Amino acid sequence: MSNAVVSMTSAGTRIHLHADEEHLIAAVTQAIAAIVEAGRGSIQGTLLLLSGGSTPVPVYRTLGARSADWSHVTVSLVDERWVRADSAGSNENLLRTTLLAGPICGAQLWPLADLDRGLAACVALANERLRAAPPPGLVLLGMGEDGHTASLFAGSSGLLPALATHDSYAAVDASGCAGAGQWPQRITLTPAGWKNAQQRMLLIRGGRKRQVLEQAQRDRDATALPVWAALDQGDAPIDVHWCP
Ligand code: 6PG
Repeated sequence: MSNAVVSMTSAGTRIHLHADEEHLIAAVTQAIAAIVEAGRGSIQGTLLLLSGGSTPVPVYRTLGARSADWSHVTVSLVDERWVRADSAGSNENLLRTTLLAGPICGAQLWPLADLDRGLAACVALANERLRAAPPPGLVLLGMGEDGHTASLFAGSSGLLPALATHDSYAAVDASGCAGAGQWPQRITLTPAGWKNAQQRMLLIRGGRKRQVLEQAQRDRDATALPVWAALDQGDAPIDVHWCP
């Protein structure tokens, strides 16, 4: 049973304030499991677009420890660093070693980065796949303390086209953006890519990120705090799950 305080903002954002990480993990795990169950038996299957970063890892481990048939599920990423899939910085690697490492069976994984194919061709392939896919059942986003979400970094080359495009994915060069760490070359989901998702969630932890979120809600400027685009652009309200 969740003890979260839930409130709805005027921009259509549902904010779930959890007492601690344990409650956040339980609520989000349950919500994702429900999406997977709801898609069972559907002809088109269920597409989950998931984030990298550290915040969702306990959720992936908890879900991945359950024995379940996910043969109707396709898992892909909201963003990827331009690295090989076996590298420690790879978000694909993160999913393979957490969510998909356990007894879940049958899930299909769509990688984003293939260094042999080239960045532009990978973005084109990701867009082609999403055009032919059903609307995502879930887009799960994270946020950095700099207000980036997916790989939409303020000041990065490619941010403005990515915010404006009708394509689901775009390439971004975040060289010079501290939040991108050692991985400036990225493929990212765009607002067009998450707009028609059946559910969108944003997972954040800590007082600083809550302040950044509140600032984004006040300033309403996705070029300065790209997370605003996630709060602002979606057919369904976004569920923000926060814990201290
Ligand atoms: C990435 C992530 C990124 C992440 C945030 C939050 O590949 O860099 O997808 O967008 O979600 O940086 O990361 P933490 O959860 O580790 O704070």
